Amino acid sequence: MTEPFVLRPLMEADLAAVAAIEEASDLPTRPLEVRRADLGDEGTPGVVLEVGGAVVGVGSLWLAPDEAHITSLAVAGEARRRGHGRRLVTALVALARSLGAEAVTLEVRASNGAARSLYAGCRFEEVGERRRYYPDGEDAVIMTLALDDGGRAASAARG
Ligand SMILES: CC(C)(COP(=O)(O)OP(=O)(O)OC[C@H]1O[C@@H](n2cnc3c(N)ncnc32)[C@H](O)[C@@H]1OP(=O)(O)O)[C@@H](O)C(=O)NCCC(=O)NCCS
Repeated sequence: MTEPFVLRPLMEADLAAVAAIEEASDLPTRPLEVRRADLGDEGTPGVVLEVGGAVVGVGSLWLAPDEAHITSLAVAGEARRRGHGRRLVTALVALARSLGAEAVTLEVRASNGAARSLYAGCRFEEVGERRRYYPDGEDAVIMTLALDDGGRAASAARG
């Protein structure tokens, strides 16, 4: 049975919890002031997923003309493998569509099989790579979802 959850926009009160989840997930962290400034910027929307009143997942977008970029996606370790990652991606895709984006793009570590599988399950396609994209020298895989039929398919994904 799916546990009750709430998906909602990222708010200032969430920033500490979100930073903790991202740090524990080895994602790049940004100073709180930058995060606060992003909250006031329509071009950098975020979503969080709560279970039992606690934030357990976060996703965020950066909107360029015609295209949205997923800049962060993480689920707390104890809450993984319950469909929350897929729910967050589906929410980000729906948000990008509602804001007029024609595609959603992201970079993911080549070694990150969990995330590559998650995005592939949401109909993202691997369209290229950026060599030595990460500070430790690892390559990034570029994945894209065109928001025509593909976006609707992702929105209809289970969960
Ligand atoms: C990637 C991440 C967000 C997935 O979150 P999650 O809530 O566990 O994902 P879900 O339960 O929604 O899983 C959806 C699909 O993702 C894939 N997946 C998730 N975790 C996986 C794992 N450990 N191994 C293989 N596939 C995995 C599967 O295809 C899964 O579908 P299935 O359950 O039908 O097999 C989570 O592992 C995470 O926060 N990782 C650290 C941060 C990170 O890598 N972020 C991505 C940056 S681009």
